[in-house]
Amino acid sequence: MRRNRQSDWSRRMVRENTLTVDDLIWPVFVMGGRGASEPVVSMPGVMRHSVDRLAEAVREAQALGIPAIALFPQIDPALKNISGTEATNPDNLVCQAIKAIKDAVPDIGVLCDVALDPFTDHGHDGVLQDDRILNDETVEILCGQALVQAEAGCDIIAPSDMMDGRIGAIRRALDAAGRQDIQIMAYAAKYASAFYGPFRDAVGSAKTLGKASKSTYQMDPANTDEALREVVLDIAEGADMVMVKPGMPYLDIVQRVKSSFAVPTFAYQVSGEYAMLKGAIQNGWLDNDRIVLESLMAFKRAGADGVLTYFAVEAAKLLNR
Ligand code: PBG
Repeated sequence: MRRNRQSDWSRRMVRENTLTVDDLIWPVFVMGGRGASEPVVSMPGVMRHSVDRLAEAVREAQALGIPAIALFPQIDPALKNISGTEATNPDNLVCQAIKAIKDAVPDIGVLCDVALDPFTDHGHDGVLQDDRILNDETVEILCGQALVQAEAGCDIIAPSDMMDGRIGAIRRALDAAGRQDIQIMAYAAKYASAFYGPFRDAVGSAKTLGKASKSTYQMDPANTDEALREVVLDIAEGADMVMVKPGMPYLDIVQRVKSSFAVPTFAYQVSGEYAMLKGAIQNGWLDNDRIVLESLMAFKRAGADGVLTYFAVEAAKLLNR
């Protein structure tokens, strides 16, 4: 077995998978104000930017060849309420950011989450009533959220809320509004994971979720077959692409989804995975550049068509070298 590994040219020649900048989607955080940036403490190296600064950062990403960004807002707590109505305001922070990015950098794809958690005062992804998350009432608001984002110029709608039936409802709402062109990337198999901790810091979503649990809508980490059922439904309802989340601890799911359905399949290397690696890197326990590229190659090996990763910009720089 070692004969083929003797030299760099030979290793390259027999290599089975490749990682390129085309595989990278960069999740970014936007906040209010102007000319402002601040670090996300639990994600070393990740910044939250005001709209104008974010447009500059996205211009750099586009120059590096990154095909798309995923936009996440930190909403002013004064604008949050029990049903997240700010999500459907056509002039909310997300919509302002989409417009600024599309003006400054027209040639990059903009993906937006559809979910209420950045907008609700309790931090749940849906409407809360008597300690329960209401499904259909939430889906109705999500359709409105998708529409304002589409109108602002978003290219890909990415529902991350895990309500039932939302992909079909959003597809119908977009089509009825004449937006057959908008792509949908469904967070199809999204698990109730502790790896999202730093993200909730980054967007400032409430950590006091109360008696209701995200486990009543996100998936049980013990399950695999259920992920396939989620994906089947989302494809039938009109998803153009599906996603598995978190990433590295769930590569078995990525592999099974891709081999079962052969649809564009993405994975999200989430905030906790980033924090875990960066923490060890900062301590000098892991080699930054090798870890970044190896962790991303693992997604390709599992069959992912692309990865949402906070490492996108530094990985692109390494890959372009
Ligand atoms: C919101 C959402 C979450 C993430 C992406 N969209 C958090 C959650 O569901 O609680 C997590 C991303 C990350 O951890 O990097 N629906």
